[in-house]
Amino acid sequence: MSASPTPRIAVYPGSFDPITRGHEDLIRRARSFADRVIVAVAVNVSKQPLFTLEERVALINQAVADPSVQVQAFDGLLADFARRAGATVIVRGLRAVSDFEYEFQMALMNRNLAPGVETVFLVPAYDLTYLSSSLVREVARFGGDVSALVHPAVRQALTQKFGR
Ligand code: PNS
Repeated sequence: MSASPTPRIAVYPGSFDPITRGHEDLIRRARSFADRVIVAVAVNVSKQPLFTLEERVALINQAVADPSVQVQAFDGLLADFARRAGATVIVRGLRAVSDFEYEFQMALMNRNLAPGVETVFLVPAYDLTYLSSSLVREVARFGGDVSALVHPAVRQALTQKFGR
């Protein structure tokens, strides 16, 4: 009897402040080649986040109902987290040329830190390419309709944050 193959684990890291339909689309795409996807929520993000770590994790869990997708917070280096998680792939989305330089630098540094872990860039669904958490926050802050851009639980959380 042959041993069952090692499951392919992909880590999808980010701030997820908050998760958008674009992130959800990328998680689904990552599932097409990974047995398990770990959505890795960065504890320390560069700017003061709108949502706490606990809120960001809870919203992802509400937006993504797939037993093959786990949500974990991580502190410190992504490369260390990916190695500890047994991941072979780091997934990042590329929306536009403007994303490229930062993503390229990050991919090279992560490969330097964790040589066995490859970064894979995924292209989001065409109608979601313009979407980002920061745009969603801004539209919601000024009372715009974000219902097509985020899961209903996220829309509700934004409404509560901004009292609109
Ligand atoms: O959603 P974001 O803000 O673009 O995600 C960026 C994130 C969290 C993936 C990146 O800042 C990160 O990996 N932070 C962890 C610290 C780290 O490993 N930094 C070096 C990256 S080469």
